[in-house]
Amino acid sequence: MASVLSFINLCVLLVHLNILVDAGGIGLNYGLLGNNLPSPPQVIELVKSRNIEKIRLFNPDHNVLEALRNSRIQVVLGTLNADIPNLANDPGFARTWVQDNIVAFATNVNFICISVGNEVQGDTLRNYVPNAIKNLDAAVKATGYKVPVTTTIGTYLLSSSYPPSTGDFVGDNKAAMQDILSYLSNNGYPILATVYPYFPYTSQPAQISISYALGNSSEVFVRDGDKQYTALLVAMTDAIYAAMEKNNGGSVEIIVCESGWPSKGNGGFTSIELAQTYNQNLVTRISNHGTPRKPGSRLEVYIFAIFNENQKPGEAEQNFGLYYPDMTEVYHIDF
Ligand SMILES: *[C@@H]1O[C@H](CO)[C@@H](O)[C@H](O)[C@H]1NC(C)=O
Repeated sequence: MASVLSFINLCVLLVHLNILVDAGGIGLNYGLLGNNLPSPPQVIELVKSRNIEKIRLFNPDHNVLEALRNSRIQVVLGTLNADIPNLANDPGFARTWVQDNIVAFATNVNFICISVGNEVQGDTLRNYVPNAIKNLDAAVKATGYKVPVTTTIGTYLLSSSYPPSTGDFVGDNKAAMQDILSYLSNNGYPILATVYPYFPYTSQPAQISISYALGNSSEVFVRDGDKQYTALLVAMTDAIYAAMEKNNGGSVEIIVCESGWPSKGNGGFTSIELAQTYNQNLVTRISNHGTPRKPGSRLEVYIFAIFNENQKPGEAEQNFGLYYPDMTEVYHIDF
């Protein structure tokens, strides 16, 4: 009897652990470009109160990392873009970065991965990102902690994205992307991508259905060979997958580290209803499935952002938040 009970307890425990490990494909971006934001401990309590288990930070802010200690929240940690040349050229700089920002916190902060920069492009991508990834990864491996090192790209690197199977990297970026993707692939590391249907929709509203952009319809809007798309975010992600398949990255997984929709600031393209519809569909539909090119695993998506940030340029950019700085909701999302 006792052993039957402990077996049942074990099963309950395993189910519980499994839920903790795979609690859903949704995380939140914690941006800090506001002069009126709550303190990091208040923000971490807010995040925990919503049962959110993953956040992304754009830079290793030590006040935020302190607040994350023992929180069990998993963290995607970015380096500043400005640090990328030093990370690439100086292995000692990379080792110090890892000591200061990973080792100092990793006993009780759970890091998912480190991103070399955000939306890297141009000469920074071509000249520095591959080596910066390699130096940081060597520095992490030397500590014994297991934290994948990667970078954050976006659809701006694609020469073509429609239909998704035509996805490829712009010629100038191809060699660097091949180098990066070989490295990520050999190590089993993911790549991060920012994917915003809002931008193509607002530049081509006559060509793109609002329901396709928002992802709230089960209608098939795009057929691409045997693949069918009901949501633009999924098609954009598959265009990156297609580009990666052609450039040494066929086995690399994409994490959508940023997506969202502003609730005001751009006329009829922005409203609370549109932003709420978009983000709620990320939670309930999009992140519960894979994509047609990667059907096996659920798409991990990080919503931008927790707060409206008043130091971002432009009114729409300032209104991507789920919360006002006083921690009241701009609109409600069920997680
Ligand atoms: C999706 O949401 C938008 C905005 O609320 C709405 O206009 C549209 O009709 C919705 N689409 C479907 C298929 O419900």
